[in-house]
Amino acid sequence: MNLKSTIALCTLALAQSVFADDFIRINTDNVDLVLRVKDNGRVYQSYLGKHLRYEADLQNLPDGTEAYLTHGMEDYFEPAIDIQHTDKNPSLLLKYVSNTTSSKDGGNETVVTLKDDKYPITVKLHYIAYPKEDIIKTYTEIENKEKGAIVLKKYASSMLHFSNASYYLTEFSGDWADEAHISTTQLNFGKKILDTKLGSRANMFTPPMFILSLDGEATERTGECLLGTLGWTGNFRFTFEVDNKGNLRVISGINPYASEYSLAAGQTFTTPEFYFAYSHSGTGKASRNFHDWARKYQLKNGQGNRMTLLNNWEATYFDFNEEKLCGLMGEAVKLGVDMFLLDDGWFANKYPRHSDTQGLGDWDETKDKLPNGVGRLVDEAAKKGIKFGIWIEPEMVNPKSELYEKHKDWVIHLPNRDEYYFRNQMVLDLSNPKVQDFVYGVVDNLMTKYPGIAFFKWDCNSPITNIYSLYLKDKQTHLYVDYVHGLYKVLDRIKAKYPNLPMMLCSGGSGRIDYQALNYFTEFWASDNTDPIERLFIQYGYSFFYPAKATCAHVTTWNRNASVKFRTDVAMMGKLGFDIKLDDINEDDATYCHTAVKNYNRLKPVVMEGDMYRLVSPYTGPHASTMFVGKDKQKAVVFAFDIYPRFGDKRHNVCLEGLDANRQYKVCEINMMPNASSSLNGNDRIYSGDYLMTVGLDIFTGNKLNSRVIEITAM
Ligand code: GLA
Repeated sequence: MNLKSTIALCTLALAQSVFADDFIRINTDNVDLVLRVKDNGRVYQSYLGKHLRYEADLQNLPDGTEAYLTHGMEDYFEPAIDIQHTDKNPSLLLKYVSNTTSSKDGGNETVVTLKDDKYPITVKLHYIAYPKEDIIKTYTEIENKEKGAIVLKKYASSMLHFSNASYYLTEFSGDWADEAHISTTQLNFGKKILDTKLGSRANMFTPPMFILSLDGEATERTGECLLGTLGWTGNFRFTFEVDNKGNLRVISGINPYASEYSLAAGQTFTTPEFYFAYSHSGTGKASRNFHDWARKYQLKNGQGNRMTLLNNWEATYFDFNEEKLCGLMGEAVKLGVDMFLLDDGWFANKYPRHSDTQGLGDWDETKDKLPNGVGRLVDEAAKKGIKFGIWIEPEMVNPKSELYEKHKDWVIHLPNRDEYYFRNQMVLDLSNPKVQDFVYGVVDNLMTKYPGIAFFKWDCNSPITNIYSLYLKDKQTHLYVDYVHGLYKVLDRIKAKYPNLPMMLCSGGSGRIDYQALNYFTEFWASDNTDPIERLFIQYGYSFFYPAKATCAHVTTWNRNASVKFRTDVAMMGKLGFDIKLDDINEDDATYCHTAVKNYNRLKPVVMEGDMYRLVSPYTGPHASTMFVGKDKQKAVVFAFDIYPRFGDKRHNVCLEGLDANRQYKVCEINMMPNASSSLNGNDRIYSGDYLMTVGLDIFTGNKLNSRVIEITAM
């Protein structure tokens, strides 16, 4: 940071030429983002890339493109901001005012203040750089000091510029039970947009994350790339536009679709945060940086422990009573997990929740099923020495519910049209403070009545349909945005009152997942699809951005062709849970699971806090492997899966990563079925870290649906 900012600020009115060659340098240990104030008083992005060794070289950088492009001026491509002034003038011209630096949220913050020279509109660009993690967090504030309201038509969080020979965009798309599917395309002239318009279950088709590779496709270990993601639990939009000169502009923020926002006089609009990791040595490094950063700065209780659990959803669906649940708690104890999680189906009396067709919104225990209430279950769990968690879906309502009958005005619906239902339900209007109180009350009432509840699974199964808010009246285009603000108000209150309460973010799988939500949630449900083969792909996709400790993975009965061992080994790469009845599995499987839970608890510091290396991608062939290495390099664990190897396949050693080349490590296969012995070549032998990383191990087999967990321990 070397801007002569204070001088510039004082002399702003006197001479604009004083700005020439002033630089604003935002940097981490390995990355530089350089903005330049040109003699016209406007701010340009001169550089984004590898850290520059010599300050003097900043002078040699090209001018670049205007950093936060406005609508209505001389640039012909997509702007970051587009507003309409009180007098209906649609243009904005932003000139540099000042910049400041300070420490914030564990990083170094630079705030660049810009102002229109004709209208009292101020725009502040915030950049918080995390030196060790090479992550930059950015957001924007737009302040209206005009006499009346202005209209925000586009209001991006961030705009970044690239000037490279080629650009490759990797996106993560999918659907229910098919999340985070990876595909890569080259970007050529024109626009590519990734966005969502679903409102609440906003990420059902795509989460707000992307990988941009520069000058060729980056691999795990090589290439220049940027991993970007937006912290917004609603509609987002990423616009990638290659212009006439072959430069790429990337605009990230709230999706402006149907969301013109009127900003009253004297108000400031703060955009969501956009986070990016920049790497010059492939995607693996950027992912590890994201994981470190998230654990330290972003995830709720990011550095704390996570509980293993038994969930009853797939074991019972809606068909349970007190006795059945208490029986399942006994199974949780046998498995050795930390918690029992009661899922959907425990509430509502006028329209008991016996299926997903009714009862949502009525949060009293169903008397027939739970005559002694949730309290009896909390007590039973305590007696058995485990914790108790509970499922809620507080933002939603079934039309067949008392809530709907009493408070139709709280439901997002078009008053003059037929209602459209998604999973037989509708979305409550969180822009309304009364609805916020109600939603907050779902958690607060349960916690007040049953302080022993140790965990919430917060679900959200429907996108916003029938979009109209009785509360917002003539401000209907605020609904998508105010819904999310309302949600954050609720979650803020919960976090303030219950700062240590772990909560799982769920949305019919991971139909809602972003880093702002994860500031309120300790973990997320990656998919309803728990077929372990599919999970290899889904968990692989999310691993680019989210650490294992946040990624819930349960062992279920999906895909019985895969052994319980295979299913468990896959789930152990995330936050382990079970959703299976022990009755459904044989004694050997049950013994195996018990041992696996013990192994998992022992390896938690490695899987949850360590560095993750994606050794072999499931996308590249019949095998997949991921490895975790403890921060002290004392212990590591390798997960290896043979999915569908063919008879003639040639297998090669896989080189491990992240170990200390100069230490000796013992290699030992664990998670074996009772009485089975390891067929791993070199099992129980000692190797140098150098050997393991240079020559590698023959970790795969030619057997279909075979899995191995290999523990590596420094001697
Ligand atoms: C969603 C969740 C599931 C389960 C059901 C209950 O689909 O993703 O895990 O909780 O709701 O209705």
